[in-house]
Amino acid sequence: MKAVFANGYGPPENLRVGEVPTPAIKDANVLVRVHAAGLHVGDCFTVRGKPFVVRMESGWLRPTTGIPGYDFAGVVEEVGDAVVGIDVGDEVFGYCPGSCAEYVSVSAEKLAAKPEGLSFVEAAALPTSALAALHALRDVAKLQAGQSLLINGASGGIGSFAVQIAKMFGVEVTGVCSSSNVALIESLGADHVVDYKKDDFTESRLQYDCILDNVENRDLSEVRRVLKPTGTLICNSGTGAAGLRFWARLLKPLVLSPFTKQRLCRYLSVPTRKDLEVLCEMVNNKELRPVLSEVHTLDSVVDALLALEVGHTAGKRVVRLIEA
Ligand SMILES: NC(=O)c1ccc[n+]([C@@H]2O[C@H](COP(=O)([O-])OP(=O)(O)OC[C@H]3O[C@@H](n4cnc5c(N)ncnc54)[C@H](OP(=O)(O)O)[C@@H]3O)[C@@H](O)[C@H]2O)c1
Repeated sequence: MKAVFANGYGPPENLRVGEVPTPAIKDANVLVRVHAAGLHVGDCFTVRGKPFVVRMESGWLRPTTGIPGYDFAGVVEEVGDAVVGIDVGDEVFGYCPGSCAEYVSVSAEKLAAKPEGLSFVEAAALPTSALAALHALRDVAKLQAGQSLLINGASGGIGSFAVQIAKMFGVEVTGVCSSSNVALIESLGADHVVDYKKDDFTESRLQYDCILDNVENRDLSEVRRVLKPTGTLICNSGTGAAGLRFWARLLKPLVLSPFTKQRLCRYLSVPTRKDLEVLCEMVNNKELRPVLSEVHTLDSVVDALLALEVGHTAGKRVVRLIEA
């Protein structure tokens, strides 16, 4: 099958388009013909093998597949003997490492029926980023109607979903983004927008019940200043440093948290079929929609990853493998 791949860890420029073996399916798996693959900044980490911790999943010395992409939307081509409720020809979306390829062999627990009314490209934008937003706000923060939330990095992959999900929960949302994305965040339903080119959210007199920090570009003490005394700070980046500084930055909120009434935490979003179905329902109810920044081809995956690393993608970058 055709895929984008590299034989070892390194810069995105090492990736090339070529032929690799089509994956075999196990009993509990489904073979999906990929129509579109969603990308996010985590793909850059697994392509480079940095930070080193990502190799726990992608392979210590060499990448297991060498194919970027975790998110996909496509059509079921073959079904394992142990799979029930999924048939050949079903349109699905889900999560599987190595999705920038013509086929993925995916666990039946990591996919769900594609939302009605969404194209394959739109559906492929959802899994990792929308689930990360859902898990942060529903499971970690346990946000309730009437509470206040500030999202730093509101215009990115996770932020653009988090604004919409928080509004769905009845939360008062403040989004932080650059001048060019203010109108986008407003259109997604944010009650207030802070343009970080003009204003500093850490200088605000307001304090929030929860802060979802997708950027972590400010000192922890500055961010905690605008968090209520018993509020929750979800640190959701930690990756802008290398070596010991990376670990110090990653661990600082977790070490400090037991010594303060504020809850300072990190989390790992694990995709499940059940929660993909939750996203599907939100989309079908017209409560959630993906924001697409740019649609790429397999030949331009390198450009997409390099652009993601710059850190100013508004919404999601998706790779189209089959013309609609
Ligand atoms: N916890 C988990 O399980 C999990 C899962 C997936 C990803 N993540 C992590 O979540 C983080 C965010 O991911 P993402 O996909 O949302 O990233 P992204 O799409 O690259 O978005 C980053 C956003 O940060 C904003 N930004 C850049 N500089 C800024 C600044 N100085 N001040 C405020 N905002 C700034 C950008 O907005 P402007 O363009 O407006 O500047 C951009 O929209 C990543 O570190 C990723 O590794 C965590």
